[in-house]
Formats: sequence, C-alpha cells, structure tokens
Amino acid sequence: MQQIAFVLAAGKGTRMRSEKPKVLHPLLGEPMLGYVLENIEKAAAQEVLLVLGYGRERIMPFYGERATIVIQEEQRGTGHAARVALDYLKHRGDRLEEIEILIVHGDTPLVSSTSLTRLHQAFKQNKSQAALLTAHVERPFGLGRVLRDAEGRVQKIVEEKDATDVERQIKEINVGVYLFEARYLEWALGQLSTDNAQGEYYLTDVIHLILTAGGNVTSVAAVDPDEALSINDRAELAVAEEALRRRILAYHMRQGVTIEMPDTVRIGPYVEIEPDVVIRPGTILMGATRIGKEAVIGPYSELKDVIVGDGALVRQTVAEAARIDDGATIGPFAYLRPGAQIGRGVRIGNFVEVKNSTIGEGSKVPHLAYVGDAIIGREVNMSCGTITVNYDGLEKHTTVIGDRAFIGCNVNLIAPVTIGDGAYVAAGSTIDQPVPRGALAIARARQMNKEDYVEAWLARKKEKRLGQKERVNKGTDFEHTSMDAPSSSSQHKKGTDDAQLS
Ligand code: UD1
Ligand code: CA
Repeated sequence: MQQIAFVLAAGKGTRMRSEKPKVLHPLLGEPMLGYVLENIEKAAAQEVLLVLGYGRERIMPFYGERATIVIQEEQRGTGHAARVALDYLKHRGDRLEEIEILIVHGDTPLVSSTSLTRLHQAFKQNKSQAALLTAHVERPFGLGRVLRDAEGRVQKIVEEKDATDVERQIKEINVGVYLFEARYLEWALGQLSTDNAQGEYYLTDVIHLILTAGGNVTSVAAVDPDEALSINDRAELAVAEEALRRRILAYHMRQGVTIEMPDTVRIGPYVEIEPDVVIRPGTILMGATRIGKEAVIGPYSELKDVIVGDGALVRQTVAEAARIDDGATIGPFAYLRPGAQIGRGVRIGNFVEVKNSTIGEGSKVPHLAYVGDAIIGREVNMSCGTITVNYDGLEKHTTVIGDRAFIGCNVNLIAPVTIGDGAYVAAGSTIDQPVPRGALAIARARQMNKEDYVEAWLARKKEKRLGQKERVNKGTDFEHTSMDAPSSSSQHKKGTDDAQLS
C-alpha cells in the first residue's frame, strides 16, 4: 500500500482578517503550513498533494517543490477539497485500490508526527477503512464533536453549528486528521451533500457514510490535547504559538539545556542546542540557529540562522546569518550582520557592528567599531573607533588586515586597502594606501603647540567684552546673531563665549 497525503489549505481564513493566506502566518518564525508538511514528511506518506485556492500564488513559491499542488477553485467545504485531490489522482491514473489517503488540515500545525504514526498503526492493525484522530479538550467550541454509541464506538462527527445542545456538551473533538482506504473515500465523497447549517460539503460526514456501508472506523486520541489547537483567528494563533513555544522549551530542557526565566524565551522549531548551554532571559533564537555546548546566550540576545561554537558567550546581541566560533565573546550590545564570521576566542565588544567579514582567531574588536567587507587575520587589535570605510556610494570594497596588526583608536580604513602583518596604524589616522608588514603608518595632521597662547588670548577677550558692555550701556544697538540665542543677558554671554572658543 502506498500512502498519499492531502493537505487542505485552500480556505482564505476570513477570521484572520489578513491579506496573507492563513497557512502562511508564522508560529515562532515558521509558517504554519511548514509544520504540517514537516510532520507528514516524517510520517509514512510517499507524496503530498497540497490543495490550494485562496492566495495560492503566495504559497506556491514556498511549498511548490515540497508538494504536488492541486487547485480548488471555489472553496465549497473540506469534503469538496478532498474530492478535488482525489479526482486529481484518478485523472492521473493512480490505482486507488493500492492507495491509502492521509488527510490533514493546513491550520492545525501542532499535530505531532507521533500521533500520525499511531493513527497509522491503529488503522493497519484493525484493518480499518477509515481512522480519525480525536482529542479531549476543555473548550470544544467551534469544533466537530465525536459521537459514540453505548459501546464507545465512533458513530459520526457533528459540527458545532449542526449540533444539538446535548451534543455540544461533548468534549471529544475531531482534530481534522484522517486515514482512508482510497476506494472507500472515493465512494463516500460521492455521497456527500450540502444539506447542513453551513451549506458545505463536510469531509466529516464521510465517517458516518463509511460506517453505514459496513466499513470499519478506528479512532486514536492525540498524544497531547494541544495538538488539536487549530488556528482560525489571531487569538488562536497566539494560543497555538504559546503551546508550541512551551513544547520546544520543554524539549531542550530535557536535553540538558538550562533556560532561565523560560516565559521570556522564544526558540524556533529548527534551532539545535547542545547540552549544558545556558539560555539567559529575554533571548530569541530563530531559523537554523545552532548553539554549541556550554555556550551562554543572553540575556536579551536575538539570533537568527547563527552558528555558535562551544563555550561562546553572546550577551545583548543581535545577530543574523553569522558564525561565532568556540570561545568567542560577543557583546554586550553588538550587531552581527549576514556574513560575519567570528573566529575562535575573538572578542567583539560593545557597540561593534560586523558585516560580511572574517575575523581571525584571537583578534579583538572591543568597542565602538564598524567592520564591513573585511578580512582580518589572527590576534589583530582593532581599537576603539576603528571604521572600515567600505562603501564609495556605488560599490563595496574590501579591507584586508594581516595577523597581529594593531589599529589605533579612531582610525578610518578607506577600502580597498591592505594592512600588512604586524603593522601598526597610529590613532586618528585615515588610511587609503597599503601599509607594509611591520610598518607604522601615521596619517594625520601634525600637532602644533602655540606656547603661552591661552593667557594672552583670554586677556584680549576680556578687553573686547568690556568695550561691548560700555556700548550697550550707552544704548548702542545690539543684535542677536543666533536665531535661538536666549534673551536673558547672563545666558547670552555664556552663548557667545562658547561660540568663540570653538
Ligand atoms: C474542521 C472540521 C471540524 C474539526 C476542525 C478541526 C469539517 C466540516 N469540520 O472545521 O470537524 O473539528 O476542522 O480544526 O471538516 N479548506 C479547504 N477548502 C475548503 C474548505 C476548507 O481547503 O473548501 C481547508 C481550510 O483552508 C483549512 C481546513 O480545510 O485549512 C479546515 O477548514 P476550516 O474551514 O477551518 O474547518 P473548521 O470549520 O475549522
Ligand atoms: Ca479550522
């Protein structure tokens, strides 16, 4: 038997009140549809048919390669969506006798692959024609209820809007995950009508139809009731994301990761963390971030697609698409932009920005610097205020700095430029010529001292001011030269002093 999965994702998701199709809304940085597909791929399905309608042009670029796209032009209900997918298989000439169909909704991203596997096992063991995943929930409002007979066998599913008051009391709900023998599904879908409160073809009716045709229906409870969380509006999105966030944190803590103040920490589903890492409060780890053992991340760090080596320390830092090697220390208040490659034991300090640059082992950029498009050797010291001037308004240029070079404070390195191994650049220099290895480059105006200047200058000032006062007292016209010069005479005096000293 071959298994083919149908993922139903054609609806607009009206209650999201969004231009974006519902299934593209993210939980912890990943679209909800991504979770659904990931789980199906982990389970038994050989092929996924993704049923799209509303906003398909926005969904296809993301998932067009992971699934076969089937279009449901008009959204006439979940039963109709399943029918469109099945018709596609028939049209393609697939032999339905040899196929089992897994159906999953695109708006229930918390369903686990373990539950999918259990459902499949029960389906096989009981030689069922249909199987469904259920969950017992505290607030079943809005969901399909599972009706059972006196022996506890599933009878049918009743939608909220079609349910009687007594049926609405039932807390066992239909998750929206099913397995079918394709031939039975085909027959039952052909029997569906729109004779219900919503005037739609309900996939849920298929269960009752298969039972009346003598089919065997199995049900399996989801491993965790949170798996039933479906997303129809933004409030449900927040609830589902919170459940997922806790699930992910619990997983990492079980794997030996310390998470301080877990309520303040967000970790995406694809993040990998080794044992004995400490995640400090307020930290957000997203994308394909990987953290090596005994690293300390946070407090208040935001990392996306960052590879962090063993024992590194990353405090109050924003980093994206960067690499931080073993034992490096970053921050507080550092910004690592895409392509920043920070070598072993490197120190990147406060208010340092690094972009598309390699920094060799043991180098230091301890404070207030911009490093862009640079290749920096080992054990280089870039002092406070070093700037790589990498952009001429049209193109970016490269700065190359050799091993053990020492760049003094407040230096502009106008790229393209090369500083040789072991060279020194004097503080305050603006470098636009290559500096040979071992040389000292000084590129700043020479200092000049005017001996005994200050006293004489002050004396001249005082004399001048006395003269002014006399003129004012005599009623001579006096005009402010500065637009915002204060009107009080004492403040005014101070203002003129400052201006003339600078
Ligand atoms: C559905 C179930 C309900 C179950 C709940 C679980 C039905 C009739 N009801 O209700 O028993 O408890 O899910 O979350 O099935 N879709 C299409 N094409 C359509 C209609 C829907 O692709 O024509 C897709 C939607 O995009 C969505 C999924 O199917 O991803 C579920 O549809 P939705 O309208 O959200 O169903 P519910 O009313 O939530
Ligand atoms: Ca739904």
